[in-house]
Amino acid sequence: MAVDYTIRGGVAVITLDNPPVNGLGHSTRLGIVEGIERANDDDDVRAIVLIGAGKAFSGGADITEFNTPKATQEPTLMTVIKALEASAKPVVAAIHAVAMGGGLELALGAHYRIAAPGAQIALPEVKLGLLPGAGGTQRLPRIVGLETALNMIVSGTPVPSEQLARTALFDELVEGDLLARALSFASQAADRGGPHPKVRDRNIEHPNAEGFIQFARNGVAAAAKHFPAPHKCIDAVERGVKEGFERGLAFERECFLALVQTPESRALRHAFFGERAAAKIADVPSNTPVREIAQIGVIGAGTMGGGIAMNFLNAGLPVVLLETKQDAIDRGLATIRRNYEAQVKKGKLTQEKVEERMALIQPTLSFSDLAQADLIIEAVFEELSVKEQVFRQLDEVAKPGAILASNTSTLDLNKIASFTKRPGDVIGMHFFSPANVMKLLEVVRGEKTDKDVLATVMQLAKKIKKTAVVSGVCDGFIGNRMIEQYIRQALFMLEEGALPAQIDRAIENFGFAMGPFRMSDLAGNDIGWAIRKRRYREQPDLHYSRVADRLCEMGRFGQKTGAGWYDYQPGKRDAAPSKLVDDMIVAYSKERGVERRKFGDEEIVERLVLSLVNEGAKILAEGIAGKASDIDMVYLTGYGFPLWRGGPMLYADTIGLYNVERAMRKYAKQTNGDAWQPAALVTALAQSNGHFND
Ligand code: NAI
Repeated sequence: MAVDYTIRGGVAVITLDNPPVNGLGHSTRLGIVEGIERANDDDDVRAIVLIGAGKAFSGGADITEFNTPKATQEPTLMTVIKALEASAKPVVAAIHAVAMGGGLELALGAHYRIAAPGAQIALPEVKLGLLPGAGGTQRLPRIVGLETALNMIVSGTPVPSEQLARTALFDELVEGDLLARALSFASQAADRGGPHPKVRDRNIEHPNAEGFIQFARNGVAAAAKHFPAPHKCIDAVERGVKEGFERGLAFERECFLALVQTPESRALRHAFFGERAAAKIADVPSNTPVREIAQIGVIGAGTMGGGIAMNFLNAGLPVVLLETKQDAIDRGLATIRRNYEAQVKKGKLTQEKVEERMALIQPTLSFSDLAQADLIIEAVFEELSVKEQVFRQLDEVAKPGAILASNTSTLDLNKIASFTKRPGDVIGMHFFSPANVMKLLEVVRGEKTDKDVLATVMQLAKKIKKTAVVSGVCDGFIGNRMIEQYIRQALFMLEEGALPAQIDRAIENFGFAMGPFRMSDLAGNDIGWAIRKRRYREQPDLHYSRVADRLCEMGRFGQKTGAGWYDYQPGKRDAAPSKLVDDMIVAYSKERGVERRKFGDEEIVERLVLSLVNEGAKILAEGIAGKASDIDMVYLTGYGFPLWRGGPMLYADTIGLYNVERAMRKYAKQTNGDAWQPAALVTALAQSNGHFND
């Protein structure tokens, strides 16, 4: 049963009991309405308490019902709220821990509300590209005031209950036994007699409502440039201010139904569910036992090792940090400290916390100090011989059951695992730079990786607040394997007539955080050069433009050398187009006998994005990624793909695979068209009118 009904001292107690967060699924909604009716029909009942069991009052809509007929089946939340308001006997909502979204809207339908301190109160619908659809935009301003309500609705950010104590939202904040106080409060309300107050009957008081609404509009203009929902939130609140509750409510409904259909909301919901789906692995049941992880080892305190260590320090886990030389370890520690101090300067961290975290590091030069570590992550030079040496040593010293992880970005994980006598314990943890900042973690599953090792690392990823996506073993894993095709197209387009600044501008206008050339300059052009040199050796038939090699031969490695595709002023990151480079590109085309032509931004965007899609389709068909949304999560959290477009695979679904395939065939006929054979999955979906994300 999702709802429990009992009577205590003449008060009916309706307890929401739908773990984990009392989502307002159909049976919960039905249970509440039945409880209200039963209480009103029972002469022995004088008042009603609505309370949540377990971890929350209510987290809102039941997300397992999303996109199912149950979500809209009567009684809808609107109907439930009407039933509360219409109850002749007073209804008291008793809130603890969480009242969010529909959960808060439900509470706003009660006549009275009391809350425990520390409860998180929010209307977070805007984060899914929606607005509160059960009266939230109308009732909240009437009870907490226009300013607080607009801030909450437009940002979606939770506010602790005690911060709302000055408003009329809660009749009381209750320390101690919430149910006991709810029962006495309800009895007293019954003693006082009705009619009991309804939030809908209150006025929105504000000395200059119109002015404030305009102020709010200006406030969201920049941040919500690509998202319609924040604007609609303001519109709905404004309608209620100007035309009253009922018309405001009708307009809110209209906006909700319109927003659900927008590609932006679809993309945000895709990302929301994609994040959860990424944590689920088809053949690893959720009840797979996990190994205990109490101490971490990190090998290598360079660019990646230091950042990786910080993730665990931030989560309160002790880290043994190993280097080969004292000065390398000193440098590594100094960088970690510097990163923390920068956060102190920004007021994001206290000095005390910095010291606490630094004290969790045990620096060492000796492998034997890794003997107690439960998880050891290697982040040494990207050379197989170095990895071999490290993993052979690890095999000697690590305790049985310890998880041995590599941060390699290009090497064969199965090979690395074979350097040990325990390949089942070996896994890839591919962090992105800067590792303490970037959300994405590709978890690389080797041929022999044990399921409980995978489950443990996925759980740990959550603890360190990463979005973890499982990838099979292949060159570049999911993200870099796809980006290579994207870069390849960018280079072809240079050769055919475009220039770096035009390509970057086009794809940045599409919404990427950074175009391919600015990105390469930031990462270092020598990295791609090294990968290409390997390609030329291993896949001599693969057609690649050599224009980027020319750049590297000029010593232009990017920001770190003050020059790359662009020129950089010392100490600055602003990319200025370089005449020297542009001339080099034009000369290169001539040398190749390519007649340079004009490029439209549309072609640039299409070629870049569809190159991701085509490789993504292969990755999916090969089982390197378990599902299309995993690929989208990699691109949203690790590669700056525009959130409002939902990732490359959802984007392809949105334009339709038939159109995607047609575009690929068109490009296949052009110069450098050899990359455009559509992946088998693209063709199959184009023919069946299917989608990557179904
Ligand atoms: P780095 O050169 O900054 O750091 C490597 C560190 O490992 C150096 O401090 C070195 O002294 C230490 N080291 C080398 N051999 C060692 C050994 N036998 N025992 C202990 N320490 C040893 O390199 P970076 O960039 O941190 O890369 C490390 C790994 O992370 C590589 O496998 C790389 O492919 C991977 N990676 C790098 C990314 C990046 O953006 N830099 C992104 C994702 C992965």
